[in-house]
Amino acid sequence: MKKLLLIVFLIIIAGAGFALAVSQSNQTQGELMDKKILVAYFSWSGNTKSIAQKIQAKTGGDIFEITPVTPYPADYNETAYGVAKEQKDKGIHPPINNKDVTPYDVVFVGTPAWWYTMAPPVMTFLAENNFEGKTVIPFVTHGGGGGYTIDKDMAKLAKGARVLSPFVAYGKGGAGVDNDLAEWLKKVGF
Ligand SMILES: Cc1cc2nc3c(=O)[nH]c(=O)nc-3n(C[C@H](O)[C@H](O)[C@H](O)COP(=O)(O)O)c2cc1C
Repeated sequence: MKKLLLIVFLIIIAGAGFALAVSQSNQTQGELMDKKILVAYFSWSGNTKSIAQKIQAKTGGDIFEITPVTPYPADYNETAYGVAKEQKDKGIHPPINNKDVTPYDVVFVGTPAWWYTMAPPVMTFLAENNFEGKTVIPFVTHGGGGGYTIDKDMAKLAKGARVLSPFVAYGKGGAGVDNDLAEWLKKVGF
């Protein structure tokens, strides 16, 4: 009898633990829905822009394209192996047409992977705004290398922000992109 009681007791404890774990993993769901949202992105060839527009359509909020004051050349090699490489190597944050993020609680920040990290205009955007107390949600498109440590790189520049798990897509994200985005948005709090 004692043994039976012990087993029942253990089952109850295990059940309670499981319920707690589930409730904790869902804790943030819906948390960000009522916040003031900005979807900010830089895009050179359209992939990141396509993801940004989908995120904006799914979350509402405002959308803002980060543009460098001096546009990158239209030629891939000139941009990739010329200006962008030089900026990456020298740690240059190029001047941008900036937007003040003060009114926003949540800022999605989109970038293509450029030389294993975010594109330099996105560095400028993060470094020149005050992100204290805000939530930054990165999204990255890449050409095969993945998301690298771009979320961590963003956290270093957006001082005082809470940086959530990034959405990472190859190119425009392929046929499953809408489902993938919906799942990720739920996970980060929508
Ligand atoms: C300057 C430059 C650097 C790039 N560096 C990388 C890289 O390090 N890793 C990678 O996977 N793709 C790299 N790519 C490919 C882009 O990340 C990829 O095509 C991305 O989806 C482009 O986004 P966009 O269309 O919004 O500009 C690079 C492209 C450019 C132009």
